[in-house]
Amino acid sequence: MRIDILTLFPGIFAGPLDHSILARAKEAGLLSVAVHDLREYAGGRHRVTDEPPYGGGGGMVMKPEPIFAGVEAIRERFGPGKAILLSPQGEILTPRLARSLAAEGHLILICGRYEGVDQRVADHLADAEVSIGDYVLTGGELPALVVVDAVARFLPGVLGDPEAARKDSFEEGILEGPQYTRPREFRGHPVPDVLLSGNHAAIEEWRREEGVRRTLARRPALLKKKLTPGGGVE
Ligand code: ADE
Repeated sequence: MRIDILTLFPGIFAGPLDHSILARAKEAGLLSVAVHDLREYAGGRHRVTDEPPYGGGGGMVMKPEPIFAGVEAIRERFGPGKAILLSPQGEILTPRLARSLAAEGHLILICGRYEGVDQRVADHLADAEVSIGDYVLTGGELPALVVVDAVARFLPGVLGDPEAARKDSFEEGILEGPQYTRPREFRGHPVPDVLLSGNHAAIEEWRREEGVRRTLARRPALLKKKLTPGGGVE
């Protein structure tokens, strides 16, 4: 899969994509991520990318021209891609959405900054608007990284265990149960006996029960959604 990222701050992306699973996915040719500086698509000597909002109000709004030019240039060079504007007004990222984005061959992620992005980007350029949660960040760069990570986990071959993405929290509608590793006892806290029993059916059942218990205590709304007929988890 190819992901192009349009941003005013390309430097933000240097570290997170170069380690661990994402780095390996890139090395294996399963994922290719290119970061593009929006300023390069801004016209004029000063390469202005933002202006005060029409109608007044504080702050600056990102201009449409560099964003349209950037997406169009990427599409011309690398073929059509689904353009996604990261914004707090977007559809909330869920496993279902991440999985469906992973099925796209090519994504173009547009990172907004400042007080917002000219509405014409959402209305006439982006194919979708995605939010990573009901909080406002200083820009779309961290959300874009979250989308890359969440999507990459669903690309075949990226996770060592192909079942892992499915088994993780949320995919099955409940939180994951607790995990333990060595030592068997740490500072007086033992690992639950069942995990040492070698009885795989009992372990599986225990994990599921713990997951349900956790979900009930921490995220009861997830269970309610799961139990609602036709109401998927996501
Ligand atoms: N930009 C600022 N906050 C955001 C959020 N929560 N999700 C996506 N993009 C954003």
